[in-house]
Amino acid sequence: MELEGKVALVTGGAKRVGREIALGLAGAGAQVAITYRTSVSDARETLRKIRGLGVKGLALRVDQRSGREVRQAVRRVEKDFGRLDILVNSASSFYPTPLSRVSEAQWEEMIGANLTGPWRFAQAAAAGMLRRRLGRIINIADVSYESPWSDYLPYCAAKGGLVTLTLGLAKALAPHVQANVIAPGPILFPPGLAPRERRRALDRTLLKRPGGPREIAEAVLYLAKSDFVTGVVLPVDGGRRLA
Ligand SMILES: NC(=O)c1ccc[n+]([C@@H]2O[C@H](COP(=O)([O-])OP(=O)(O)OC[C@H]3O[C@@H](n4cnc5c(N)ncnc54)[C@H](OP(=O)(O)O)[C@@H]3O)[C@@H](O)[C@H]2O)c1
Repeated sequence: MELEGKVALVTGGAKRVGREIALGLAGAGAQVAITYRTSVSDARETLRKIRGLGVKGLALRVDQRSGREVRQAVRRVEKDFGRLDILVNSASSFYPTPLSRVSEAQWEEMIGANLTGPWRFAQAAAAGMLRRRLGRIINIADVSYESPWSDYLPYCAAKGGLVTLTLGLAKALAPHVQANVIAPGPILFPPGLAPRERRRALDRTLLKRPGGPREIAEAVLYLAKSDFVTGVVLPVDGGRRLA
């Protein structure tokens, strides 16, 4: 699929990996809407950069734990841009939740942001994609979906659900809409992660270095352009699964 003139929505697109994905799609000529929840000034800056690449852009504040906000966002993109061709679910909530201390509210937040949110976006976007017989849904999971970290079980369980959801979407939406999921390894550490934890994460890979957000943006571009790949889990993890 040629990306020039297509319409993309990137959740969590204000900063970090989501921003790189949004700018990658805009650089390929797509019109790009991003969602943010709290990062207002980052969202403004990313929007400015998207428009600076010569394409239309939009930034929408969405808490994807709310079904109403998600449906409104998809309707707004379809209204402003005329359609939605590419959905990238990148927004995520991530922090330690040890079994002995995790609360019901934290479990709900992890599942809400990492699984129910992407499900809602996919459901809302799929209707128009099916009508127009064209669409790409690209979800961003995590290598930990298949080898969970014991202190992050709600996050890992949500990402495992996201992988299964994506494979199911590929079946449910075929043959005109393709759905794939990327499973990143260490790409960009959260700002507060201790040096010891960083080293441990890199030691568990073959390549022994963080990937950087561009690696995920490139994988998204590949999956968005492909006309023949669907139902795939694409690891972008520096060889984490073999190390
Ligand atoms: N970074 C890595 O090394 C790595 C590794 C493996 C997998 N991944 C996956 O790759 C994706 C991008 O990674 P990242 O590190 O850039 O993610 P991130 O910084 O942890 O989160 C991305 C954005 O998600 C938004 N968000 C959180 N809760 C939300 C909610 N309830 N509703 C709407 N938005 C919400 C936040 O927006 P605001 O800032 O606007 O509040 C945040 O900026 C994520 O799915 C992550 O799980 C990343």
